[in-house]
Amino acid sequence: MKKAVFVSREVFTEILDFLANHFEVQANQADRVLTPEELAEALADKDGAMVSLTDKIDENLLRRCTHLKAVCNIAVGYNNIDLAACSAHGVLATNTPGVLDDTTADFTWALILATARRLNEAERYLRDGKWDKWRLKQFLGLDVHHATLGIIGMGRIGQAVARRASGFEMKVLYYNQHRLPLEIESACRAAYVTKEELLKNADIVTLHVPYSPGTHHLIGAKELSWMKTSAILINASRGGVVDDNALVEALANGTIAGAGLDVFEGEPSVHPGLLKLTNAVLSPHIASSSKKTRFRMAMRAAENLVAALTNGNPPDLLNP
Ligand code: GLV
Repeated sequence: MKKAVFVSREVFTEILDFLANHFEVQANQADRVLTPEELAEALADKDGAMVSLTDKIDENLLRRCTHLKAVCNIAVGYNNIDLAACSAHGVLATNTPGVLDDTTADFTWALILATARRLNEAERYLRDGKWDKWRLKQFLGLDVHHATLGIIGMGRIGQAVARRASGFEMKVLYYNQHRLPLEIESACRAAYVTKEELLKNADIVTLHVPYSPGTHHLIGAKELSWMKTSAILINASRGGVVDDNALVEALANGTIAGAGLDVFEGEPSVHPGLLKLTNAVLSPHIASSSKKTRFRMAMRAAENLVAALTNGNPPDLLNP
């Protein structure tokens, strides 16, 4: 008898076809975010699941889903999954590292350029019919070329962002829990500094850390006050790494010049202060969203699920 799996959110039909070669597949192609109760019900008789960052996999759910052997996240970040609880219940958990680094780094640059050069604000002005003449001092922005880029979190995505900075002839500083080997530093042309040094010296600060209790509000009022008043903050990592209340205040008071944000505390809700500010460029958690990459992420999760339920050794196992 085929094992049974559940796919919690809409995926490409090719992914379902691939899974159907191995499993009985039930899928939520309607894409409604399930309540914890609905998810637990759907998973109660399943051997495995492909889930997304909108699904919370915690002790409560695992206690009810006694058949479950594997949970495969369609994301590199996995703060929606309680790994200790998975291990305690003998559930293999996986993510999708590697397949989205370049796409996420590209989008980080889209946020950097749009924020520094005030692109969205200027477009809105034009679309609103307010453009009456060329002005010397119109939408004066921040130069990206030759600026100092500060990268907090120098994993695969942070490094991909750093490599792209050389075309802009930037100075690159980074802060990471651990200093990187010299050959990686030199490939990224990046210098290791403290968080405080980075925040005080960078013109553009970009965040690429996973979300955890240790990175909760890594950027709060104190850190924002260390930044230059001309500097901008970019976040394409996770909501909660930045204290959005403190950020709204910093953007409104001119403590920093702007922010480019793809992730938010409590998303899909967005702090109403951010929605009002013109110096914030906002996008709905789409940094990895190119056609190729979102397909690869879903396929990678499906491959993890097949491996987890057939040989118990998925390539991206998080809790060996
Ligand atoms: C997206 O946010 C991911 O973690 O892959």
